Amino acid sequence: MKLPPAPLVRRFQRRLLAWYATHGRDLPWRRTRHPYRVLVSEIMLQQTQVDRVIPKYRQFLRRYPTIHDLARARVEDVRRLWYPLGYNIRPVRLHTIARETVARYGGHLPDDAAALRRLPGIGRYTAGAVLSFAYDRDAAVLDTNVRRVLGRVFLGPRRLARVRGERVFWDLAEALLPRGRGYDFNQALMDFGATWCTPRKPKCPSCPMKGFCATVASLSAPGVPCRS
Ligand code: ADE
Repeated sequence: MKLPPAPLVRRFQRRLLAWYATHGRDLPWRRTRHPYRVLVSEIMLQQTQVDRVIPKYRQFLRRYPTIHDLARARVEDVRRLWYPLGYNIRPVRLHTIARETVARYGGHLPDDAAALRRLPGIGRYTAGAVLSFAYDRDAAVLDTNVRRVLGRVFLGPRRLARVRGERVFWDLAEALLPRGRGYDFNQALMDFGATWCTPRKPKCPSCPMKGFCATVASLSAPGVPCRS
């Protein structure tokens, strides 16, 4: 796919960051840059809504304040504490990550993508989140909210219907990332998708992107189905 031209990229970046300065959410994991805390939040957020994660994130960190505490814990106890977020593999993987990080890296989560992705349960998304949120790197993130925003603004319904796979979205997420602003930009994209460019009833009339959004443009073009 052809990437958006530089002036459009800059416009999107400026508008998203300005939007975030006013509308960004104050979430507990945004009050820390500590890699372990960032990791705990991102693993919890992989499959659970923000509102449900907040109390569990706090409780988890009270019980296991450091990666060493988690590594020493019994996996059954970790699972039990996690349980209200769902009976699944995430606590087991997080516990394994803690043990491997202590054994191999002295308790310091790696700060490069390849090493992070060798840990269980860390894919491209979570590696990008840890790198940008804990280590201030310009690494892209792509979750369902981000995918929806990028698909609507830069592709629109016709092109979106033809897209197969994730590649186009990752390329867009990387091309859009403003150098040196990975932290704010990624948090902003997630909030924008979660609170403004929502799946149903997006706030198009007060959207800072409406002047160049491919989906808004398609709504006034005759014969184009309104989807995405
Ligand atoms: N979902 C995944 N990561 C998130 C974050 N850092 N803030 C809000 N929602 C998220």
